[in-house]
Amino acid sequence: MIKILISGALGKMGANVISAISTDPEVTAVCGVDRTEDLSGCIPVYDDFSKVTEQVDVVIDFSSPKALDSILTFISKTGASAVLCSTGYTPEDLEKINATSKTNAIFRSANMSLGVNVLIELVKTAVKNLAGFDIEIIEKHHNQKVDAPSGTALMLADAVKDVDNDKFYVYGRNGIVGKRDANEIGIHAIRGGNIVGEHDVIFAGNDEVITLSHHASDRKVFAFGAVKAAKFICGKKNGLFNMTDILNNK
Ligand SMILES: NC(=O)c1ccc[n+]([C@@H]2O[C@H](COP(=O)([O-])OP(=O)(O)OC[C@H]3O[C@@H](n4cnc5c(N)ncnc54)[C@H](O)[C@@H]3O)[C@@H](O)[C@H]2O)c1
Repeated sequence: MIKILISGALGKMGANVISAISTDPEVTAVCGVDRTEDLSGCIPVYDDFSKVTEQVDVVIDFSSPKALDSILTFISKTGASAVLCSTGYTPEDLEKINATSKTNAIFRSANMSLGVNVLIELVKTAVKNLAGFDIEIIEKHHNQKVDAPSGTALMLADAVKDVDNDKFYVYGRNGIVGKRDANEIGIHAIRGGNIVGEHDVIFAGNDEVITLSHHASDRKVFAFGAVKAAKFICGKKNGLFNMTDILNNK
């Protein structure tokens, strides 16, 4: 039985992860960490990693990049692995994650759904075959989301750039005067209501438009993906993994 600590346990995704774990006999939630302590729920939730006494195999994190340092310190001390699902990491954060992955197994993805990770492969195929098409990305999320553009929109833009390194990113077009450059990828963020997460990659050519889309209708898709990732990395000594490793492992 894989023992899991949920970082951000009191949040929307934390609740979905606890629920996903409860339906899976191979994993168990032993405790959580959040900004406030709550010892009244189905698992104890501490306000600091230093209070964790339970044995932990994997930390699943859906909190904030601000929790990164304490998560990395905890896994370094205990030898646990981590599935990092928070979005909005800075390049310095990514360097710290990379450094810690030399000693601990870390899985990181800005989108834990299988569908978006297949979408990334479809986007790469489209870029290879649609030379000269203008590419724009539109992402839509609920009104509580704190980072923009979404980590997933950036993953999709990075997938385009992986195929065509001349591309560069333009975030919205406020104040820009002049025509779009052929190598621009326009990235646009919509925020409203309780939209779980929608991503459209638009390829606009002469007289034809192809739109590749992914719409998540329930957060549980990300929670089940995170549990799958926890099972995937548990037992691995070290290394940095993402959803492509799971897809290629099938
Ligand atoms: N990778 C994915 O597939 C995916 C999917 C959905 C959300 N997310 C990301 O997961 C994160 C959480 O999303 P959410 O919708 O559950 O948000 P939320 O606001 O509902 O929950 C976040 C929880 O983390 C806690 N938290 C914040 N800062 C903390 C800190 N420094 N230490 C400990 N706990 C802290 C908050 O108190 C809250 O309970 C966001 O970064 C979001 O973008 C990723």
